[in-house]
Amino acid sequence: MSLPIVTVTRRLPRAVEERLALLFEARLSPDDRALGAEGLARALAESDAVVSTLGDPLTADVLGRTPRRARVIAQFGVGYDNIDVAAAAALGITVTNTPGVLTEDTADAAMLLLLAAARRASEGARELREGRWTGWRPTHNLGVRVSGKTLGVIGFGRIGRAVATRARLGFGMTVIAWSRSLSPAQGAKTGVTVVDDLDELLAQSDFVSLHVPSTAETRHLIDARRLSRMRPGAILINTARGDVVDEAALIAALRDGRLAAAGLDVYEREPSIPADLLALPNAVLLPHIGSATIEARTAMGLLAVDNLVAFFEGRPVPNRVA
Ligand code: NAP
Ligand code: GLV
Repeated sequence: MSLPIVTVTRRLPRAVEERLALLFEARLSPDDRALGAEGLARALAESDAVVSTLGDPLTADVLGRTPRRARVIAQFGVGYDNIDVAAAAALGITVTNTPGVLTEDTADAAMLLLLAAARRASEGARELREGRWTGWRPTHNLGVRVSGKTLGVIGFGRIGRAVATRARLGFGMTVIAWSRSLSPAQGAKTGVTVVDDLDELLAQSDFVSLHVPSTAETRHLIDARRLSRMRPGAILINTARGDVVDEAALIAALRDGRLAAAGLDVYEREPSIPADLLALPNAVLLPHIGSATIEARTAMGLLAVDNLVAFFEGRPVPNRVA
């Protein structure tokens, strides 16, 4: 019996590629280059399944091209905003993602950005490497204390909760969260104050960390008006998706000093970063590495494989999103 053909759009950790090659006729990425719309349409036409990543534009147009052979897309990632899931569902294409296994590592990345932004770590490191550091002095590179401050978590799902736990237990922060689904009583059980008014969270927080997915509803959730509701000198952390924030408005708020700093892992038009953002000393910028540990990336790949195995064995897929 012939094995299902599985096209993998990017290089994956070795253990994952080996498992894919064992179980399927795996077409692994030869050069780790993004396939683009035409390459993806070809993959859908020639394979039974595609293992996609967040840079693959699986739009309604690409999904709807004929002929198409693929019946399942296993996204390597918890976010799947690159896939038009409504179009996939209408075409009978199953879509899966990889939740949970990257939660702790992504929460660590949010804390990394929070601490780096609070303590102006990027500025200090740059000064040192450029040979401009003149030695210890009492007023050099002063940041703000994290301990005892208030963190506002927007999107109280897996990663938002893991960040809240770190902030409360590790750094003695007070945490408030904005959630659609959690009641204040449920929040209280986790030591977090749940509010249903986003403006209230913004007005009360010294740090704000974003953990909602990118959807039509969350696009520019943090816009110029919401930025103006934040405390003067507050710090914004985004490890969710770039388009949750109006990047131009954020640049303006950082430039005029209304916000003290931002820590960003994600951008509106990745991998393109506005020159104005790159020029800001109070922006700590990482290249979308929230889940970039060998442990998380291997677990994500193996979970994507589990989803494919279940699909081809006719069992319910564990992480179905369409
Ligand atoms: P999750 O468990 O599904 O949590 C997302 C939360 O957002 C849920 O609590 C949900 O609230 C809330 N939410 C969704 N839509 C909302 C809306 N319109 N308004 C208000 N709240 C809304 O997901 P997760 O595993 O924590 O991941 C969150 C996101 O992080 C992913 O979607 C991805 O974009 C991003 N991410 C980035 C990296 C990185 O490398 N930087 C790594 C992993 C994930 P309800 O409970 O009320 O539905
Ligand atoms: C990474 O950004 C993911 O959504 O898994």
